[in-house]
Amino acid sequence: MTIQNGSAWKALAEHKQEIEGLHMRELFASDTQRFQRFSIRMGDLFLDYSKNRITGKTVELVTSLAEDAGVKAYRDEMFAGRKINFTEQRAVLHTALRQPEGFRLELDGQDVGCDIIEVLAQMKHFTRLILSGEWKGYSGRAITDVVNIGIGGSDLGPYMVTEALKPFAHGALNVHFVSNIDGTHISETLRQLNADTTLFVIASKTFTTQETLTNAHTARRWFLDKAVDKSFVARHFVAVSTNREKVEEFGIDAQNMFRFWDWVGGRYSLWSSIGLSIALYIGFERFAELLAGACAMDEHFRSAPLEKNIPVILALLGIWYNNFFDAHSHAVIPYDQYLHRLPAYLQQLDMESNGKRIDRNGNEVEYATGPVIWGEPGTNSQHAFFQLLHQGPNFIPADFIVPLKSQNPSGEHHDILLANCFAQTEALMRGKTDEEAGKEMRDAGMPEERMTELLPHKLFPGNRPTNTIVFSEVNPCNLGSLIAMYEHKVFVQGVVWGINSFDQWGVELGKQLAKTILPEIQGQDDVASHDSSTNGLINLYRQSRGS
Ligand code: F6P
Repeated sequence: MTIQNGSAWKALAEHKQEIEGLHMRELFASDTQRFQRFSIRMGDLFLDYSKNRITGKTVELVTSLAEDAGVKAYRDEMFAGRKINFTEQRAVLHTALRQPEGFRLELDGQDVGCDIIEVLAQMKHFTRLILSGEWKGYSGRAITDVVNIGIGGSDLGPYMVTEALKPFAHGALNVHFVSNIDGTHISETLRQLNADTTLFVIASKTFTTQETLTNAHTARRWFLDKAVDKSFVARHFVAVSTNREKVEEFGIDAQNMFRFWDWVGGRYSLWSSIGLSIALYIGFERFAELLAGACAMDEHFRSAPLEKNIPVILALLGIWYNNFFDAHSHAVIPYDQYLHRLPAYLQQLDMESNGKRIDRNGNEVEYATGPVIWGEPGTNSQHAFFQLLHQGPNFIPADFIVPLKSQNPSGEHHDILLANCFAQTEALMRGKTDEEAGKEMRDAGMPEERMTELLPHKLFPGNRPTNTIVFSEVNPCNLGSLIAMYEHKVFVQGVVWGINSFDQWGVELGKQLAKTILPEIQGQDDVASHDSSTNGLINLYRQSRGS
């Protein structure tokens, strides 16, 4: 039986009919305690989910859906190290990476806790050597720049976090991130650097990713052009990977390798040695605070009752809209410029995890799964796509992420920022009625005829849901909690939808075909083995190369 045939799903479908005509304005008007009733605090993090199309009954029904789907049992299995990534036969233990010292868990005869402590100690030692200037480049000068070469989970997490935590930078180093195979990315980065003071961190779980290895080889060629002596590579290239053999094959000494394990998914890996560039940028102590913040969210996720559990509630609200209101996209709007890469990071976390249509039994699901995740910081996004959020025919729920304190207090800036944020969620919830719009135009002295013409354009349906996630400031601890919150949200949704959130077979076909096309592009002959569009495009490019 699929979740869709269960009683909780059916009850939710009926409940949707009941509350479809209900406007959030009425819900707020009839309950002065709505904000208190539909909000949850976890440490410094506060979720206001009162601006949703829900009643107390909705919360009861969605939590029964989570109960029916076995969310608690799956959650416990994940934390216990069971191989819940069944298509790859792997445990899912990124949560172990942020457990306090003393954590012990045996997996396939190996003590996971000891492994983690060992690598953390290696990262701490290395970070100290680099930041203190004890580690010298080939000319005897200290390292001033770190270039993280990786892609997907080996880039998005560390890049997002270092951008978010700029005010916490240690100060001794600049970090740069190169991910794209487009030669522009590495060329523009290398242009700013001196080889003798640059450290390359080659970050790749598999150490077989085409983009990362190509960029890493280009970096090494650039480096050797300047340094000449191959023995200097050891002082300027380190690797983060699960694949020692490939790291050595590339020419990086195993001593300069920071390992992690197959039970850490790429998009869940910033807590592992993939976070090395984060530790180098903010210092190891701050990196440990990031882990501690995530650990606090793990504890909350494990112990809070479902109806008081932030990631669970966010997940269930997402399901409520995606599966019962046909809202297949979800916006994330951070009201903090430092969080500008958060939507991009969440795109991989959510869409690579839950963009699946085959369930645990190998059957195609008959309901929507992972939504399209997108967003941009406020207030920029207000001047770009908010028109569609307010008046478009699509129904798009959104998360608003709000630090109460600015890292750069300056005049009225932060007051204006937050006034805009709160105004937007209010506007999305309230909308603007005929009477309100009509009165505004009448008060402005508009002629009756013009008013009639304009009225439909001036209306806002409202009743558009938002979650507001508030914390005191963007700091390592809060950021850790925020990221872990989204990880667990994605997990809960995957469980309810009955899919495996931890594999990513969907990225393989394009990679495979690119391997066929590359030699064709570089070959002598016109290509005729594909469809006419693909042949045409390949040949167009070949001709342009030739000319
Ligand atoms: O192509 C998708 C993917 O496999 C992601 O899941 C992963 O984060 C990324 O590529 C990079 O992989 P790696 O760390 O092995 O280079």
